[in-house]
Amino acid sequence: MCGIVGYLGPHQAAPLLLEGLGRLEHRGYDSAGVAVLGPSGIRTAKRAGRVRDLGDQLPKRFTGKVGIGHTRWATHGPANDTNAHPHVDSKELVAVVHNGIIDNAAALRDELAEAGVDLVSDTDTEVLAHLVARSEADTLEGKVAEALGRIDGTYGVAVVHVDFPDRIVVARNGSPLIIGVGDKEMHVASDLAALVRYTTTVAHLDDGEMATITPNGFTTYRLGASGIAATDRRPAVVDIDPASYDAGDHESFMRKEILEQPAAAERVLRGRLDERFATGHLGGLNLDARELRAIRRVKILGCGSAYYVGQMGATLVEELARIPADAEAASEFRYRNPIIEPDTLYVAVSQSGETIDTLLAVQEIRRKGGYAIGLVNVVGSAIAREVDGGIYLHAGPEVAVASTKALTNMFLGFAMLALQLGRVRDLSIADGRRLIAALEELPGRIEQVLATEERLEAVAHRLADAESLFFVGRVRGFPVAREGAQKFKEISYRHAEAYQTSELKHGPLALINPAVPTVAIVPADELVERNVGALHEIAARNGPLVVVTHEGVDLGGLPANGVERIVVPRSERELDPILLTIPLQLLAYHAAKRLGHDIDKPRNLAKSVTVE
Ligand code: F6R
Repeated sequence: MCGIVGYLGPHQAAPLLLEGLGRLEHRGYDSAGVAVLGPSGIRTAKRAGRVRDLGDQLPKRFTGKVGIGHTRWATHGPANDTNAHPHVDSKELVAVVHNGIIDNAAALRDELAEAGVDLVSDTDTEVLAHLVARSEADTLEGKVAEALGRIDGTYGVAVVHVDFPDRIVVARNGSPLIIGVGDKEMHVASDLAALVRYTTTVAHLDDGEMATITPNGFTTYRLGASGIAATDRRPAVVDIDPASYDAGDHESFMRKEILEQPAAAERVLRGRLDERFATGHLGGLNLDARELRAIRRVKILGCGSAYYVGQMGATLVEELARIPADAEAASEFRYRNPIIEPDTLYVAVSQSGETIDTLLAVQEIRRKGGYAIGLVNVVGSAIAREVDGGIYLHAGPEVAVASTKALTNMFLGFAMLALQLGRVRDLSIADGRRLIAALEELPGRIEQVLATEERLEAVAHRLADAESLFFVGRVRGFPVAREGAQKFKEISYRHAEAYQTSELKHGPLALINPAVPTVAIVPADELVERNVGALHEIAARNGPLVVVTHEGVDLGGLPANGVERIVVPRSERELDPILLTIPLQLLAYHAAKRLGHDIDKPRNLAKSVTVE
């Protein structure tokens, strides 16, 4: 959420900063800005709107070889030119870009105003610029450390100062900050996406760490109550293909990422299925068979789509390992003073590994002595570093705000975890083998679903006309419905509500009419007859139906008129949810496209929610 870039080197900074911001725009796209340190001091250009608008309006002579930039997702104050970052102090000595939230900003604003400082924006960040400018420390590092010492909250921050024109000072507390070591030049970014085009030699700052970056390298320090102390952080080469951050010939990242799912699924499964013992092989859990057997309960925590796939995961664990499992929204978890049990396995699930609600939930668990593992996509991310063990999802970079391939790999991660938990209990070898065979076939099955895109597109066009829709399912199908509704609403901006099919008649049936379609998840499972019964109740009220189902399911003579049938290939029943989810991604995608929306950057949202 929000993106930071910085550059120092032999080239003009502004074009490089703009290019980097373009690659971070999915992190926040309300407004954007850059500041460069040039011969005549700091020059700032910032405005509400997209990075390309900022680029179009940048003055021709915007010279300077040191600079910082920001793309914003508004937290304090509306998205307007003044609230855009960078923020400067009254004398324009200092420019600051900041991700995160300063909790005591109101008190600091009052204090600064009382001291005669004229605050021009509504943001929390502006106080930092003034605090750095007013510090009497001799060095920029000292000034930044003093300013940060005054604030409560989270930050990834980059600061330039006219009196120290050879450097950028950066610091991190809860919001990522990465230093990129280039060829006689240095880069800064809050996300690898902005760096990999220039360098894959990077250093991730830890929380509580600060760094000075000059064109020749960087030095790191630990921020402490008694000042700063040098640390010895070395850069490392990350194994990333820069092309994986490009949309290539695809019209959007979301479509690219949907189509990448078969390959991504193969990656997450590779080397993790043990055919001999018919089990999952997740060494990263750091738990031996005895410790796995001692687990009495599984608690899954995630937000948004990660929470919904967590519900799918909980069902998998209960079915395969026969231990109680449930998923909870990580954003609610720590506020109800949860009971942390030593024999519960806590599982944090996150694409970005940065979602602050999930990170804080993990910290709460560990503080109270619980054991937490992570199913995380981004290597080295905050959650990945916080947990006691876990597995990486290997989905590759996910740029579209709406999560697709990472979610599929989360499901597969849960399937392997459930298999491993099951096989140290009473899941039979035969069942283990049955599931392994199905998992190995899954990438091909996903391919089969993707091959039906044309038909899904036609159905999506009809759904796009509806102002309001239901997505319904039962048991394994309910989280599928939740995820389907989530994907649909976030990019089509239609009201899409998920319900248990069984609950319709307890209220929502009152809303069914010819203008309100229902997308119903009806797998060929033990609930098929009950599901079909509910479809009749909808059809009897003239509610249009899209039934996502399996070959051979008898819809019990539903009228052909007003009923679309989408057939998904079967897997083993435990794995059906993920194959039922894939068509819903394409329905959402094509509805949003039909409506002319910016699919990768839906309004009001941003990738990686790093604020509470
Ligand atoms: C929806 C979506 C969000 C994320 C949620 C958690 O398509 O992408 O609901 O799933 O913000 O994000 P991560 O997985 O990064 O923790």
